[in-house]
Amino acid sequence: MIVKAQWLLLAAFVVFFQSSRSQTGVYVDKHRPQIHFSPKKGWMNDPNGMVYFNGKYHLFYQHNPDKPVWGPMHWGHAVSIDLVHWEELPIALYPDALGTIFSGSAVIDKNNTAGFGTNAMVAIYTSHNHAIEKDGFDKIETQSIAYSLDEGKTWTKYKGNPVLPNPGIRDFRDPKVSWYEPSKKWIMTLAVTDHIDFYSSPDLKNWTKESEFGKDLGAHGGVWECPDLFPLLYNGEEVWVLIVNINPGGPNGGSAAQYFTGKFDGRVFTPNETDTKWIDYGPDDYAGITWSNTGDRKIFLGWMSNWLYANVVPTEKWRSANTIARDLGIVRAGGRYLVTSKPVKALQQLTATTYTLKNKAGKSFDITSTAGKLKGPALLTFDMEELKSFNIELSNSNGEKIIAGYDKATNNYFIDRSSSGKTDFHKEFTNKLTAPRLSSNKNADIILVIDDASVELFADSGLSVMTAIFFPESNYTDLHIKSTEKLAIKNLVFNHLNSAW
Ligand code: FRU
Repeated sequence: MIVKAQWLLLAAFVVFFQSSRSQTGVYVDKHRPQIHFSPKKGWMNDPNGMVYFNGKYHLFYQHNPDKPVWGPMHWGHAVSIDLVHWEELPIALYPDALGTIFSGSAVIDKNNTAGFGTNAMVAIYTSHNHAIEKDGFDKIETQSIAYSLDEGKTWTKYKGNPVLPNPGIRDFRDPKVSWYEPSKKWIMTLAVTDHIDFYSSPDLKNWTKESEFGKDLGAHGGVWECPDLFPLLYNGEEVWVLIVNINPGGPNGGSAAQYFTGKFDGRVFTPNETDTKWIDYGPDDYAGITWSNTGDRKIFLGWMSNWLYANVVPTEKWRSANTIARDLGIVRAGGRYLVTSKPVKALQQLTATTYTLKNKAGKSFDITSTAGKLKGPALLTFDMEELKSFNIELSNSNGEKIIAGYDKATNNYFIDRSSSGKTDFHKEFTNKLTAPRLSSNKNADIILVIDDASVELFADSGLSVMTAIFFPESNYTDLHIKSTEKLAIKNLVFNHLNSAW
């Protein structure tokens, strides 16, 4: 009798568990990321309006709710309390008479400068008017604002929109706004074709142009889009970082995020160096910017795809996910200021089981033969006293694999997804992907964030970063570190992760 009751209980639990997982059936689709945000259905591109408020990280995003391809842009909305578990909420901003809702940012108006209310959440975005596209450039892209007094649930568009008209330029978009305390003004960093315009405003409604930056600096293989401007502290010194996304013209083809470091005085950005640097050298981290209202902590997140193939990747119900949220830092290496990215620590809370290895030398570390096959996402970290060439191979029994590693001869980190699974949807998808090693240290540390359809490689404390997506016929199950030389691994930690959904 007791045995029977136990079985009944177990059966009830299994039914409950299965039905709660498949209630919507949403997050169990083939290629569906398990530790990254993706919309339930439809299309997603750039993260927008990322703002922290009342204990919640808000993520808005470019969204076409009706089709899994780019189309009329809305702002989708999701929230998280830890940057790992996300809850998708109803759509925040719908297209209106001024156009569809292109990328932009959100701020918390603590001093009620706009008069919408103390602590109003104010979104500043580009209104893109396809209908009048043929009538001339001056009306296509203008900047508008909307506010919410209930934590982003409902929004009111400002009657005086657009707040920044278009001076007759085709590409004039993606406002990132932040508060500049010394002059007590809002600063708008705007992408204008091949450079950045800085505007200032006392109230988010009236904008004055302050300066331009970048016509002859950095990468110019494509249109400048989705910028961000913020200070980071380096040993107490304020170093300003200007992120400028560019499409195409990225280091591995298609879209990517370059950055400059320098000084900003409320009007003008003066760069420290003029060489081109990339936040992430991989092909699949675009339109990334940081959350506002997080104090000195700067948390970055990008769209985990590339305009080269984003519309044709082999998922049907939805298209695209975001990268893992990353903490940005700044270091000095080779006489330059360089931005580092590291996955947020909160990711650790998904740990299901841990396998560790200490002070072991060898040419082959078959991790999953001891730690157990991959059943979902995973996190691998290890460090070496001396960096040598290595391959981290993720594979399945169909012979599909992705290799992430380091090649000493070229001093490059790399990702090879030429045999990763479905690749024929775009001819450039199988290109070999490389990132220069920027550290000159003898030792090295590696973090690899593994999900069902992506890897994110963070090398040398986040100095060289690469993100790449992939689409195997069946999920990868095996993880193997290989080298032609003897690798001396000091500490290796491999975590099987639970799904965040
Ligand atoms: C970048 C971008 C932005 C634009 C948005 C449109 O990926 O092209 O410049 O605002 O996407 O969806």
